[in-house]
Amino acid sequence: MSLHGRDVISIRDLSRPEIEDLLASARRMIPYAEGKRAIHPLADKIVAMAFFEPSTRTRLSFESAVHRLGGHCITIADPLVSSLRKGESLSDTIHMLTSYSDAIVLRHPNEGSARLAARVSERPVINAGDGAGQHPTQTLLDLATMQEAFGTLSGLRVVLLGDLRYGRTVHSLAYALALFGAQLVLSSPAALRLPDEVRDQLEPMGVKLEEEDQLHRAVRDADVLYVTRIQKERFPDEAEYLKVAGSYRIDNGVLANAKPRLIVLHPLPRAGEIAPEVDATPHAAYFRQAFLAVPVRMALLEALLGSPKARKGE
Ligand code: NCD
Repeated sequence: MSLHGRDVISIRDLSRPEIEDLLASARRMIPYAEGKRAIHPLADKIVAMAFFEPSTRTRLSFESAVHRLGGHCITIADPLVSSLRKGESLSDTIHMLTSYSDAIVLRHPNEGSARLAARVSERPVINAGDGAGQHPTQTLLDLATMQEAFGTLSGLRVVLLGDLRYGRTVHSLAYALALFGAQLVLSSPAALRLPDEVRDQLEPMGVKLEEEDQLHRAVRDADVLYVTRIQKERFPDEAEYLKVAGSYRIDNGVLANAKPRLIVLHPLPRAGEIAPEVDATPHAAYFRQAFLAVPVRMALLEALLGSPKARKGE
């Protein structure tokens, strides 16, 4: 089934073959993402970036992807300067963006906001993070980084470390890894365990979820260590955050017994979870991961918008 004109709200909106096709086309996009070659399948297209939460990599890599494909962006990067500040509803904002653009990339603090936007919008909506919900395009680039490092996704042993409760990137990634038959090891402070709703989706897929709170043990047999930031902004109160702040940190000591080919990933920004000394080791793959955001998002945008009409259902 073609992705043309579709919404991407949850990673579950994509089948395994669709994800595989996107990863293959992302690999072909690398020289274009690096600016070594040029293509313009979005030449007549405008993509709206509606970001109502802080972002550096996600917004800028989407913008870079649109530019590299020859398209144009219109951007709300600061909610304080948009009409949301004046009390405009999200659905009114989306209605308007639908008439100004060919697709909308939305980041919003409320879980479910992207699904709501997709109902309102006649144009494709891409979820760039809805509260503690989902972040499907981050998952695509996480998978692209693992596939580049190992040549495959199946059978990888992946440790998901940190804030598994509020971290939307792991909610999307865990599902996708289960689709590809990876082994998942969950390692988090007790208060930040993976929510039951997410577990309930994984278990019927036949994935065995292991839990390992001892970092050294979790790291020992891992192929991928996926580190996350504690999502301070999602805690109901500061005191709860302070109980878990700084409770894990990856440094060269923790990695001493790791497999030589272990890669450390992080969606970034990091806030102390990975010591800078790790950057110089062959394990550090998080900056490559941040670069791969561009070819992956190019592949996705080309699939959604790359031919003359971009309206849903056409
Ligand atoms: C993540 C996010 O916004 O969910 N960042 C990103 O998109 N690269 C992770 C985070 O903010 O911790």
